[in-house]
Amino acid sequence: MPEFIPVLTREEIEKLVAGVARSISDDYKDQELALIGVLKGAFIFLSDLCRHLTVPVTIDFVQASSYGANISSSGNIELIKDVGLDIRGKHVLIVEDIVDTGLTLSYLVRHIRSLGVKTVKICALIDKRERRKTDVCVDYACYVANAGFLVGYGLDYAENFRELPGIFHLQL
Ligand code: IMP
Repeated sequence: MPEFIPVLTREEIEKLVAGVARSISDDYKDQELALIGVLKGAFIFLSDLCRHLTVPVTIDFVQASSYGANISSSGNIELIKDVGLDIRGKHVLIVEDIVDTGLTLSYLVRHIRSLGVKTVKICALIDKRERRKTDVCVDYACYVANAGFLVGYGLDYAENFRELPGIFHLQL
């Protein structure tokens, strides 16, 4: 039986998300922001984050898959869903659930830059640094974790456990 070790409660996540939203709102004061959520993991985080922001936003999603991957990114990234809105000349904030090796995000940052945006920054619910393979810069992180496989609040293991309101360390 898998074991779920609590990492963050629903209430703790709420406070962390509100704090990061305050920093983002301060940094982008008087500007418009295009939020680009990375499916599927970021859907809950993005929906909470955007409701705490005090700057006007547009919202779109991308989906990337790391083919040949199991629980770790293979580095062979493929774009399954591209940005639909015209984000040329915009300030873009990529909203990701968790950054692990950073391979997915370096691919996405490169891709979004190629669309002619003004700036690109990264906001991650969890910055998991132990296995980082790139120098991708996580500009805003709600929580820094060093190890382990996390599930809940959008994060899945084989498409399961996204619906859990808290975040748990999954031990198989
Ligand atoms: P990266 O390319 O290695 O940074 O992988 C990022 C993607 O891997 C995330 O968007 C997640 O989909 C998945 N991932 C990495 N670590 C975890 C985890 O601990 N729990 C759930 N998904 C994870």
